[in-house]
Amino acid sequence: MQIVSQRLILRPWEDSDRPAFAELSADGEVMAHLMPLATREASDAWIDRQIVHLSTHGFCFWAVESKEAGTFVGAVGLFKVSYTAHFTPAVEVGWRISRPFWGQGYAPEAAEAVLRFGFEDLRLQEIVANASAGNTRSQRVMTKLGMSHDAEDDFDHPLVPEDNPLRRQVLYRLTRDRWL
Ligand SMILES: CC(C)(COP(=O)(O)OP(=O)(O)OC[C@H]1O[C@@H](n2cnc3c(N)ncnc32)[C@H](O)[C@@H]1OP(=O)(O)O)[C@@H](O)C(=O)NCCC(=O)NCCS
Repeated sequence: MQIVSQRLILRPWEDSDRPAFAELSADGEVMAHLMPLATREASDAWIDRQIVHLSTHGFCFWAVESKEAGTFVGAVGLFKVSYTAHFTPAVEVGWRISRPFWGQGYAPEAAEAVLRFGFEDLRLQEIVANASAGNTRSQRVMTKLGMSHDAEDDFDHPLVPEDNPLRRQVLYRLTRDRWL
């Protein structure tokens, strides 16, 4: 299956995406607010998790490619939150875009199509998004999508070590009713 937006195609991962995703994952600026995928093995394992998640649940962080150029742009999609927190069980929307493509509205465009898929096809009642407190670019995307933030929802990520600045996370939510 594919999700298509004006300029982008979101599709299952192909082996040919692996080098481009490894390059994105090795970019310190892209990964500044994310847990590192420092090696090719870690980057490939992340893709493998998406492939398993897609076959198990019917959705994942898809590979995103530009319609016009056919080039790999990044990863955007939905994922079942894999840890326990006050807002789980939940499905999150997430994004990571290769740096040469930043600032063109690709993340919000792809995420908007993904939210439609989540609410219309998967019939989800709510979709959340989280980012480290310092990740203002990602929070900007959440705001553009009409997601809302309540500081009382902010949380310490249980999979991030206590002394790591990425541990403090903000949570944004979008309910089906608000999206409609
Ligand atoms: C967050 C991210 C996905 C946004 O993707 P995008 O396609 O560039 O999204 P937008 O074009 O809507 O830009 C969002 C914001 O990023 C910032 N931004 C845009 N281009 C930028 C650039 N070249 N350099 C630095 N910041 C930039 C701006 O604040 C922009 O907000 P604005 O449109 O109000 O000016 C992208 O920056 C990214 O991949 N970041 C690293 C991975 C990451 O943090 N993922 C989220 C984890 S929670």
